[in-house]
Amino acid sequence: MAASATSKLLVSDIASVVDHVPSNYVRPVSDRPNMSEVETSGDSIPLIDLQDLHGPNRANIINQFAHACSSYGFFQIKNHGVPEEIIKQMMNVGREFFHQSESERVKHYSADTKKTTRLSTSFNVSKEKVSNWRDFLRLHCYPIEDFIHEWPSTPVSFRKVTAEYATSVRALVLTLLEAISESLGFVKDRISNTLGKHGQHMAINYYPPCPQPELTYGLPGHKDANLITVLLQDEVSGLQVFKDGKWIAVNPVPNTFIVNLGDQMQVISNDKYKSVLHRAVVNSDKERISIPTFYCPSEDAMIGPAQELVNEEEDSHAIYRNFTYAEYFEKFWDTAFATESCIDSFKASTA
Ligand code: OGA
Ligand code: NI
Repeated sequence: MAASATSKLLVSDIASVVDHVPSNYVRPVSDRPNMSEVETSGDSIPLIDLQDLHGPNRANIINQFAHACSSYGFFQIKNHGVPEEIIKQMMNVGREFFHQSESERVKHYSADTKKTTRLSTSFNVSKEKVSNWRDFLRLHCYPIEDFIHEWPSTPVSFRKVTAEYATSVRALVLTLLEAISESLGFVKDRISNTLGKHGQHMAINYYPPCPQPELTYGLPGHKDANLITVLLQDEVSGLQVFKDGKWIAVNPVPNTFIVNLGDQMQVISNDKYKSVLHRAVVNSDKERISIPTFYCPSEDAMIGPAQELVNEEEDSHAIYRNFTYAEYFEKFWDTAFATESCIDSFKASTA
């Protein structure tokens, strides 16, 4: 049994045959979820209602963005404009994809982090020492016509539903970027204009039930490398955010998205806004699906702190050097979450 389980590519196919966590998934004692120390009720992340964003109350909502971005880096949004029906269909095709037979799924398998459509497991199997209890399908999805032909063609509605979902979430992201630009005192297209031709990736994360969830992670603590992430999660808890020295569970709220800032927002805002540590834990009786949209610069875009926020005389020097997003993204996959973030290696030299 152990030999056959470890020869499987995907953790979904291991989870269904084991009654314990194989040793390559077991974290050292000092690095386990420790659920008794997680805040599961009470203090949570802010909720922003986008209903009035384009009305007379805009200034107030921009203030809410400023507070959420500077104090949390994580917030939930409601009345976001992505139709409920599209969200439901996206969750359904994601689930159906992972419920297909092993032979159907593994056709899409690749450990090559440069591939623009691929199914894989854990985070980066060629770099990491301990594996994570997660499989994921990762898709580039902007511009859609460049990538849609690579996407899975089963379930039969996969491409149509995913294209609709990606288009709708992109429109939401552009709205969020306008609000965040204004919250930093910029004109509304300021951030959007720094992203070159723009990029959008999606993942469908599949966390199978785990026989010993206290020994492993779905995803260990990490920060997202991209600009901004819009996360859809199903009704099973698992996401946790690190705030003021402790982990806070972000429990699912129907029809809301979770938004978090990534490393590129931290760089562009020259540390006014931070990319925040988060992780996903697993549980013993329910599968969990989450669908993050990672919005990012195009690979050729030159990223660095916004000039307006840098003033050498007033001691607000540029904290980061300029780099292309291609350079950053390659470094991100290489570090394999070994360090919590790769942003430190892009600091400006202070010599
Ligand atoms: C991610 C991530 C959280 C979750 O995919 O980067 O942080 O709840 N996912 O699955
Ligand atoms: Ni993440």
